[in-house]
Amino acid sequence: MLALRGISKEYSTPAGPLRILDSLDLSLPPGARASIMGPSGCGKSTLLAILGGLEAPTSGEYTLDGVHPYALSPAAQATFRNQSIGFVFQDHCLLPQLTVLENVLVPTLASPSPDPEAPVRARHLLHQAGLRARLDHFPAQLSGGEKQRTAIARALILEPRLLLCDEPTGNLDHASASAAADLLLSLSDGPRIVLAVTHSAELAARFTSHFTLRDGALRAS
Ligand SMILES: Nc1ncnc2c1ncn2[C@@H]1O[C@H](COP(=O)(O)OP(=O)(O)OP(=O)(O)O)[C@@H](O)[C@H]1O
Ligand SMILES: [Mg+2]
Repeated sequence: MLALRGISKEYSTPAGPLRILDSLDLSLPPGARASIMGPSGCGKSTLLAILGGLEAPTSGEYTLDGVHPYALSPAAQATFRNQSIGFVFQDHCLLPQLTVLENVLVPTLASPSPDPEAPVRARHLLHQAGLRARLDHFPAQLSGGEKQRTAIARALILEPRLLLCDEPTGNLDHASASAAADLLLSLSDGPRIVLAVTHSAELAARFTSHFTLRDGALRAS
């Protein structure tokens, strides 16, 4: 269960405090697949940064399955981000010097003891992503859609409870966007919560609950 209660976020600027999120509430049950739309600059990426444990809110309470990430020590917060959250960004953010298979394994390197099953899982995810013949390619040798499908496999390698996507198909043509959306949704059965920010009504329509962020608050739409 994901719960936000009275979340506000302010940035201090030379012109004074700038309030981006204003007493925002959200509850998502296990298995939720939610989209968030809203005008540019309304705070969508800011909200994802809070949910991802990257940026503390100015006030309010956030819990994921009962854990308060911002009450954890910095080391425990890093573990929370690694183990509980998957991120997919508009830009794939793959490491250019690593192969497709190695990129997908990067999140597993934070574990103190190697997981012998991780390469098996990575291969399986990449097969599901249609990248069976691309495991040893470097990112520069992939199409945009293949890069983004690799990034989706990387986000899922540790089976996170929450998958956060910021414009995951924003850089892709129609066919590649549709394939990436298929993958995001098909690989996320079960209790994982998937939350995607998008400007694409077509992508949003693939999700089962829909929100609009406006004036610092979320409304079901
Ligand atoms: N570190 C910061 N300091 C000051 N203002 C910031 C900071 N980060 C973001 N902002 C401001 O917060 C607002 C919300 O930014 P955010 O990136 O969350 O928007 P967004 O809804 O994701 O927009 P887009 O659809 O264009 O990606 C913007 O007006 C931005 O300028
Ligand atoms: Mg944004």
